[in-house]
Amino acid sequence: MAFPTTRMRRLRRTEELRRMMRETRLLPADFIQPLFVCPGRDVARAVSSMPGVAQLSVDRVVGAAKEAQEAGVPAVLLFGIPQRKDAVGSESWSAQGVVQRAVSEIKERVAGLAVITDVCMCEYTDHGHCGAVADGEVDNDATLELLTRQALSHARAGADIVAPSDMMDGRVGAIRKGLDENGLSQVAIMAYAAKFASAFYGPFREAAESAPQFGDRRSYQMDPANGDEAMREIELDLQEGADIVMVKPALAYLDLIYRARQKFNCPLAAYNVSGEYAMIRAAGLNRWIDEDRLVLEVLTGIKRAGANLIITYFATQAARRLSG
Ligand code: PBG
Repeated sequence: MAFPTTRMRRLRRTEELRRMMRETRLLPADFIQPLFVCPGRDVARAVSSMPGVAQLSVDRVVGAAKEAQEAGVPAVLLFGIPQRKDAVGSESWSAQGVVQRAVSEIKERVAGLAVITDVCMCEYTDHGHCGAVADGEVDNDATLELLTRQALSHARAGADIVAPSDMMDGRVGAIRKGLDENGLSQVAIMAYAAKFASAFYGPFREAAESAPQFGDRRSYQMDPANGDEAMREIELDLQEGADIVMVKPALAYLDLIYRARQKFNCPLAAYNVSGEYAMIRAAGLNRWIDEDRLVLEVLTGIKRAGANLIITYFATQAARRLSG
């Protein structure tokens, strides 16, 4: 039946009708709030390329975690900026490390909030690569042991979920095995499964002080041109025991979120990364766009594409908008 019998505008006429017809509903429970933990007390060091985001000391991170929880966000994702970096990133598995202390403080002080930790070497190594370097290359197999140590120390501190973001082959299996052999089989793994070598990570590298000191990450992160390979990465991570898989970044990769949702019956996260945040925030601060509306539109698009979890620096802000 076509026009004039059919008129699509009939069901768009009033807010009540639009609300009834809405196919995708964004909820605070969809979001994960990333936080950057740095050494010190009462420190909040602004990240210039991400206005509104700061590196926070452990005491201040607890406050930010509380705010996320009060807004209805179910989880935070922690990144650590260590006191000292070295060639193998040894501070990353210290029981006294910033992430480990933040995990246990949040677990103690903020009831009902899930804590996820990013597992990677780049914030902790002096060369800024995501693994151990041998002869100018990132050594895959040597890195697996370092990642497992780091994941174990996060889990021992009380992390609910560990999230390896390094893109080494075999790391999900290695971490799963390490957790299981150490009585931590209840700790889940969220794998950065299809993670691309993206220019959208620029602001994050300022926030986490993790820019590579030589070369780039293209020998381990994926080529933005490759979609079939992304499906293979996801499949392998699921085979190795990933509980949640991720596509990262989100906005230029919505087709892959959609494909993954069609192909795999599993929890799927999308990372709305630092550069995506910075672009919207910059335009918003300049009054070139309506930031609040744009944020919800973008997050709705990521959910509509098929993600059931969205990691976003807008999490607390967007959750407040949705519930107020
Ligand atoms: C660490 C890591 C990165 C991000 C998450 N974990 C940076 C990178 O791979 O260079 C990027 C997150 C963002 O841009 O918001 N490997």
